[in-house]
Amino acid sequence: MNPVKPGETPRTPWIVGVSGASGTPYAAAVLRALLAAGESVDLVVSRASRLTLLDETGIPFRDAHWQADLREWLSRGADGKPGTFEVDIAGVRHWSAGDLAAGPSSGSYPVKGMLIVPASTACVAGVALGLSKDLLQRAAGVTLKERRKLVVAVRETPLNGQTLRHLVALDDAGASVVPASPGFYAGATHIQDLVDFVAGRVLDAAGVEHGLYRRWKGELGNGT
Ligand SMILES: Cc1cc2nc3c(=O)[nH]c(=O)nc-3n(C[C@H](O)[C@H](O)[C@H](O)COP(=O)(O)O)c2cc1C
Repeated sequence: MNPVKPGETPRTPWIVGVSGASGTPYAAAVLRALLAAGESVDLVVSRASRLTLLDETGIPFRDAHWQADLREWLSRGADGKPGTFEVDIAGVRHWSAGDLAAGPSSGSYPVKGMLIVPASTACVAGVALGLSKDLLQRAAGVTLKERRKLVVAVRETPLNGQTLRHLVALDDAGASVVPASPGFYAGATHIQDLVDFVAGRVLDAAGVEHGLYRRWKGELGNGT
């Protein structure tokens, strides 16, 4: 047992769930921005997302070496260039996707909420139907039942009716559905800008401050 001593601030992390949709650079951008904002993170990487990470970056994600693998991943730019970012991962705690006894599988474990980025359609279905097939889905279900903030950055195209219905169910349950679809009005010139736009909108939905993209200020409007 590790009770909080009087005067001590309890660690209250954001859970970040990375599922097996394409878009691991979105997850990296969200993780970097949360850490830069001084937030702590509980990280859950699904089994399938290890394949997308390997495919998209060449980096494995191994439970036994998660710190080294995470450092390598977060240092990469969206163009794959190593050493683009310097990141201190001291605020990250990692839970294995199969660990259903982990902290985030209980509503009494203190967290601010959960961001699923990217969210696969399988993950969307699992959370909408309450399947809890792994820790990521269980933590998302717990987040909803505790009425905490859940942001779901779904990535698939096209979307079939079944997924659209699951997304409506998530919205009805109080989640924010944030499609991983970048806008082009913020002056993007590099892939990283487009990635950061999506990551920034995920953080907007969570209410976390960041400077990831240039906000629209009404330039073409006629405000006086
Ligand atoms: C390289 C690769 C890319 C994939 N991209 C997507 C995607 O963009 N969206 C999606 O819904 N599923 C995608 N999948 C399929 C999911 O990984 C698969 O449905 C998996 O069961 C998701 O499991 P999870 O939600 O537990 O991570 C992709 C799979 C691979 C191997």
